[in-house]
Amino acid sequence: MPKRVYIETFGCQMNEVDSARMLTLLESVEYTAAGSVAEADLVLVNTCSIRDKADQKIYSELGRLRRWKSERSGRIVAVGGCLAQQEGKALAKKAPYVDIVFGTHNIARLPELVRRAEEAVASVEVDFSEDTSHWDVLPYLPEGASSAMVTIMQGCENYCAYCIVPYVRGKEISRPAGEIISEVRKLAERGVAEVILLGQNVNSYGKKEGEIPFPELVRRISRVPGIARLRFITSHPRDLEPETVGLFSEIEMLCPHIHLPVQSGSDRILASMGRGYTRKGYLEKIDALGKARPGIAFSSDFIVGFPGETDDDFMETISLMEEVRYDSSFSFRFSPRPGTLASTMPGTVPPDAAGERLRRLQLLQDRHTRERLEDCVGAEMEVLVEGASLRDAGMLCGRTACHKMVNFSPDANRSGSFRRVLIRTAGAHSISGEEGAPIG
Ligand code: SAH
Ligand code: SF4
Ligand code: F3S
Repeated sequence: MPKRVYIETFGCQMNEVDSARMLTLLESVEYTAAGSVAEADLVLVNTCSIRDKADQKIYSELGRLRRWKSERSGRIVAVGGCLAQQEGKALAKKAPYVDIVFGTHNIARLPELVRRAEEAVASVEVDFSEDTSHWDVLPYLPEGASSAMVTIMQGCENYCAYCIVPYVRGKEISRPAGEIISEVRKLAERGVAEVILLGQNVNSYGKKEGEIPFPELVRRISRVPGIARLRFITSHPRDLEPETVGLFSEIEMLCPHIHLPVQSGSDRILASMGRGYTRKGYLEKIDALGKARPGIAFSSDFIVGFPGETDDDFMETISLMEEVRYDSSFSFRFSPRPGTLASTMPGTVPPDAAGERLRRLQLLQDRHTRERLEDCVGAEMEVLVEGASLRDAGMLCGRTACHKMVNFSPDANRSGSFRRVLIRTAGAHSISGEEGAPIG
């Protein structure tokens, strides 16, 4: 009987790509992907710990898995990722039915830990080994995938006052450029047209290691035959240099979208968060990006209710949002994380006030998102197809270069990853249309 693994991934793209690596690694111990938890022999939960809510979600999922495990003997539960890293033995204690707890630096050991679990030996492996051997493992790529993420660095040393990432992902380490480029080549050979470069702060790529600078890495990747779209995530506004901004005019295949998380529009709060830029400095970068690539789309992250945030501070955030008119953004209520500087800061914002601020900010974003999507109606846009649309049978979905989700009815006589779509309508989060003239 072939053995089956089901991986549940929480959190950010770092976890998504790690999960894909785990799937490849588990092939070496004869596991293939299961379609659901019910079909699986091994369930692996790749966890996130960015906010308290994320922790709670995972513990309730583990509760469900306890029942799943008890329904048949030999079933294995493994927990990896950031919460596993943070909790380590404590997680094993709280959830003793978990067979494997492994941290963010122990991914390469997964096959061995699974072998042990098959013999009913439990493991907790959360050492910060600075092991990067998992980089050699090509993340599992579904058949026909048009887009893939490529890790260019791991860890973070920025220690923004609210953030747990440096504690759970460890030191910043950049991957050698040669390895990155060879992974991109392999992906291109498998038909991948879009590559997304991943790091917590891509703008500091290679600085410590004396590797080629980030802009040069982007240039080299843009020359890999077969790659037609390039993106990178995430840029720290403090470290976004003029040369990187210039890439948007220099390299056409660099998609006209940048995620530039601002967190707050108030200088006082930005300083207290330790972000290292001011509102004015941030807006100057937005302006420079708009000049480098007219029409570039912006997205961002916001935190409301950071300790000490007053109504006036919050109004500064609102006015910054008005000024930029982001295409999309994620906003969160501040959540104190263990061990971070902000978790001990005075000036807790009452939950009601923080909730009300979050609601206002999100309503404003919804309006801007809708307006930005409406601006697309009537245009013909090039779409990279991701697969069948979840909305309607017979429709396809994909993304524009500026990262908008598009649902469209395809021309039955055409095929290929890139399609030109005439946009007819705009919704709250996506646009729709029909296939127009062929590309080329
Ligand atoms: N490396 C990225 C962000 C990683 S975390 C960067 O520097 O921008 C993703 C987002 O989660 C952050 O941008 C922030 O908005 C949010 N976040 C992080 N810690 C948080 C906390 N303690 N409470 C609320 N939101 C948080
Ligand atoms: Fe967290 Fe700041 Fe690092 Fe981003 S740059 S991961 S917000 S510490
Ligand atoms: Fe990502 Fe969550 Fe870890 S956002 S880095 S999976 S804490």
